[in-house]
Amino acid sequence: MGYINLALRMAREAGELIKEYVDSDFKVEEKSSKVDLVTEVDQKSESFIRNRIHEYYPKHKIVGEEGVAGGDDVNVVAESDDYIWIIDPIDGTTNFVHGLPGFTISIALSYKQEVILGVIYDPNLDEMFWAEKGKGAFLNSNRVIVSDNNHLEGCVLATGYPSDVEGDRAKVIENINKLGPACSNIRTFGSAALHLAYVAAGRMEGFWEHGLNVWDVAAGYLLIDEAGGTATAMSGEPYNLTTRGIVASNGHIHKKLVESINVND
Ligand code: IPD
Ligand code: CA
Repeated sequence: MGYINLALRMAREAGELIKEYVDSDFKVEEKSSKVDLVTEVDQKSESFIRNRIHEYYPKHKIVGEEGVAGGDDVNVVAESDDYIWIIDPIDGTTNFVHGLPGFTISIALSYKQEVILGVIYDPNLDEMFWAEKGKGAFLNSNRVIVSDNNHLEGCVLATGYPSDVEGDRAKVIENINKLGPACSNIRTFGSAALHLAYVAAGRMEGFWEHGLNVWDVAAGYLLIDEAGGTATAMSGEPYNLTTRGIVASNGHIHKKLVESINVND
């Protein structure tokens, strides 16, 4: 099976698996802090995706947020030129734990340090956002492009509240104080990948968040790029697989966003 078809199929199947557990009594654990959660369903979803990849491409590397057995260490994204699958098995775990919609499955494939494929699936709305390098960005079977709004005051932006409360979350709140009065509105749906997909699809004009990880961002980065937008590090420097904080936009408001955020990550 080709890479994109495999990624689309895995995202859809993982979405079905996750939905079976909504409202059930699954195990929840804390990771780096009380607000950084993982459930047994995150782990099941990641194992499922990892096993599927191994079935077709046993030599490829796999980096997943939950680091389930059989995966590779996150450092390979900075060091390896091989094929690397980068997986967030549930982005928006807090939404999932609280019975809220707005969680996604995010799958990217990189080769020689470049993201060549990105898929973000919202199983609640059955919306599949996907892109292959050089071939455009799609929502289900329709091509999508970023919004052409170039006035910040008419723009809807999104951000998220990182689990590092004292550091990254405090920076986001500081940014909201500055950007809030300058734009039309700010949304926080609870999944960085979903925010990036929405910017790519022209539903919102911009997204930023400090302290993200490669699995939150890699697929969304390619979607934005293929939809005609811009996604960079907080500083405005080009995105690469080690970029943590991200600023993504329709391109028109990018400079203003980067200037307003003005905090290096
Ligand atoms: C989180 C989500 C959330 C963002 C957090 C991420 P997770 O990922 O993307 O929107 O604000 O910073 O950690 O933990 O649900 O996979
Ligand atoms: Ca995530």
